[in-house]
Amino acid sequence: MSSPIPGLPAGVQRVLLDEGQIRRRVETLAQEICADYGDECRLVLLAPLKGSVVFLADLMRQLARPITISFVLASSYGNSTESSGVPELQMDMCGDLSGADVLVVEDIIDTGRTLQRLVAAIRSRGAASVKVCCLLDKPARRVVELRPDYVGFEIADDFVVGYGLDFAEQHRNLPYVAVLDPDAAR
Ligand code: PRP
Repeated sequence: MSSPIPGLPAGVQRVLLDEGQIRRRVETLAQEICADYGDECRLVLLAPLKGSVVFLADLMRQLARPITISFVLASSYGNSTESSGVPELQMDMCGDLSGADVLVVEDIIDTGRTLQRLVAAIRSRGAASVKVCCLLDKPARRVVELRPDYVGFEIADDFVVGYGLDFAEQHRNLPYVAVLDPDAAR
């Protein structure tokens, strides 16, 4: 592992998106979402745990309209920087989605496998509509056809942490998005 940069935690290489950049983009995303969903929509923000919690908390407070929130447990990375390829999905917390306009609020899309499975599961529960809002999108890593409806930032193929995202459960509490030092992941 390389020596820590002052002000950054050990293992973190550089800040990719600072707090101001994220805040401004979240505000814009919220305005777009409010404009797209009419008053008649029963909008449910569905957040796959755990990485999405910070984004959800910030986005929902910018939505000036009625919403409810719900959660599923999704995990594909474990303690690795590489996806297992078989995302685990537990839907028992998500509640009744029949007739709901579900907006999946996701921290990052990489291969797209998690969201592909999740969107299918939401549809099978009778949702009226399903859209996807992600803070970070890595289109270069996609292995399945999946296009999010709202994207905060398209990013390169670096392993990123902070603002809810982890490596081996660490760094989720950083208020910014940062690039993990590749040596730290070995
Ligand atoms: C991350 C992220 C997405 C998924 C995206 O979750 O939150 O759910 O990976 O990867 P994919 O597009 O390749 O499927 P992770 O498995 O790291 O769990 P976490 O949210 O608890 O950190």
